[in-house]
Amino acid sequence: MAAAASSSRCRSHGFLRLLAAAAVLAAFGFARAAGSSGDESVLLNVQSLLPGRSCATPQENKPSGARSARMQVVHQHGPCSPLADAHGKPPSHAEILAADQNRVDAIQRRVAATASKLKKRAAPVQPGPKKNPAGIQPGHSSSSSAPLLPVSSGRALGTGNYVVTLGLGTPASKYTVVFDTGSDTTWVQCRPCVVKCYKQKDPLFDPAKSSTYANVSCSDSACDDLDESGCTGGHCLYAVQYGDGSYTVGFFARDTLTIAHDAIKGFQFGCGEKNDGLFGKTAGLLGLGRGKTSLTVQAQYRYGGAFAYCFPALSSGTTGYLDFGPGASPANARVTPMLTDNGPTFYFVGLTGIRVGGKQLSIPETVFSTGGTIVDSGTVITRLPKTAYAALSSEFTAGMAARGFKKAPAYSILDTCYDFTGISEATLPTVSLVFKGGACLDVDESGILYAISQAQVCLAFASIGDDESTGILGNTQQKTYGVVYDLGKKTVGFAPGAC
Ligand SMILES: *[C@@H]1O[C@H](CO)[C@@H](O)[C@H](O)[C@H]1NC(C)=O
Repeated sequence: MAAAASSSRCRSHGFLRLLAAAAVLAAFGFARAAGSSGDESVLLNVQSLLPGRSCATPQENKPSGARSARMQVVHQHGPCSPLADAHGKPPSHAEILAADQNRVDAIQRRVAATASKLKKRAAPVQPGPKKNPAGIQPGHSSSSSAPLLPVSSGRALGTGNYVVTLGLGTPASKYTVVFDTGSDTTWVQCRPCVVKCYKQKDPLFDPAKSSTYANVSCSDSACDDLDESGCTGGHCLYAVQYGDGSYTVGFFARDTLTIAHDAIKGFQFGCGEKNDGLFGKTAGLLGLGRGKTSLTVQAQYRYGGAFAYCFPALSSGTTGYLDFGPGASPANARVTPMLTDNGPTFYFVGLTGIRVGGKQLSIPETVFSTGGTIVDSGTVITRLPKTAYAALSSEFTAGMAARGFKKAPAYSILDTCYDFTGISEATLPTVSLVFKGGACLDVDESGILYAISQAQVCLAFASIGDDESTGILGNTQQKTYGVVYDLGKKTVGFAPGAC
C-alpha cells in the first residue's frame, strides 16, 4: 500500500499525510480506506481557508542558500499586509473573482497578439520613427487617451495579489508594491503626479529627493525596450496598460533599487505621473516577467536571472518570500523546461497531466499543449482547458461524494462547491499537476479549495472556456511551494514545503 500510494503522488512524504488522513477516515467510520488506488486524501482544516483576523507572529525569513536577496511576501489584503490599515473594506470574493477573470482575459489577448506578431515577423518590417502614442503625454489632458485606455469597471489588478516592500532612490525610501510575473516594467507613482495618482499608503516617490535619479533620454536604447514608449522634451516616456483598464504613464527613469540588502544601481523603472486603476493602496508594481525591462532581466548580471517565491498557506501567514539569486532555489525543487517560443514576458511550461486522488485522469496531451500553460503569480484561480477541467471536476466530485460531502451552489467562475457547515476537518482527494520532465506539484491542502464561506467552499480551478486558449497556473495552487524561475537554465521548478 505504501509503495502504491507514494508512487502515484509527487512527494515522498505524501504517505505520512496519507496515514493521518486514513486515521481520520477510520475515525469517522468511512469504509473506503485511503491508499487504495484513486482514493488518496489530504486533510484540510476548514477554518484555515477562511480569512484570518490577526497576523501570525512575524518570522525571520532565512534565505535557503548563499548569494540571495530575500524579501518578505504577504497577501495584499491579509492582516500582515503593510497596507492593511490603509484599506477601508477588503474586496469581496465577487470582486476578487471578477478581477481574476479580467486578468485572465487580458493574458489571453496578450498571448494572441504576441502569436500574431511572431507570425508576421517572417516578413521584414521597416522600423518607423519613434511615435508618441495617443494618451502617453503625462502632461496633456486625458481626453486624448480615450482610445488607448479602455475604461472598465470593477476592481482590477490589485486584487488577490501578493506584495513586497522594496527601496528606491538615494537615500532609499520604502515602497510596498504588487509583484507580478505576468508583466515586465516596474513602476511607482511619482511626484508631482502631473495628471493623476490613485491613493496609496506610502508617500509618493519624489525624484527631486533622490540624488541618484535620472531620466532616460529618447535616444537611449533602453527606451526601445519598452512595449509602449514616447518622447517629450528629449525624455523617454513609458506607458503600461493592464487588461482591466488600469494604466500607468510617465517618465522612464533610472535609480537605485534596493531589494533586501542589495542595491541595484541604474535600475530602469517607470516614474508614473498618470496612473489609475485598482492597485489597492500599493505604490506601484514590480515586474518580474521575461521581457527586457523586467527586474529579472535587468539584474541578470547579478542574479543570473534566477528568483523564487513562496506564498504562505494562510492569508495571515508571515513565511512568504521573494528571493533573488542562485541561492534562491530550494534544493528539493523539481524542474520543468521554461518554454520560450511564445514571445517575451510570460513563463510558459508544459503541463501534461492531472491526478485526482492519485489517479491519472485520461486527458489527451494535446488538450494541454495546444494553448500551453503559463505560471503566473497574479492569477488567483488556476485555469485549465475545458476538457481538462471537466475531467478534473468530475473526478473530484466523485471523490467528494464518496467522502459524503454535500454540494453547494456554484459561485462566480467556480462551479464545484461544497457545504462544510459544521465540519472542521475535511479529507479531500489529492490533486496533482504533472509537468514535462517529471516535475510534479501535489497541490497543498490550502490550495485545492477556495472558501466563499463555510457553507460554500469551491474547487479552486476553472475552465478557460475552450481547448485552444492558454491555461494558467494560479497562485492559490502555488501556495507553500517554492516556485523557482531560472532564465539562465530555462527552467521553472516547484519545491514542496518551502514556506
Ligand atoms: C526629468 O524630466 C522631467 C520632465 O521634463 C523634469 O521635470 C525633471 O527635472 C527631470 N529630472 C532630472 C533629474 O533630470
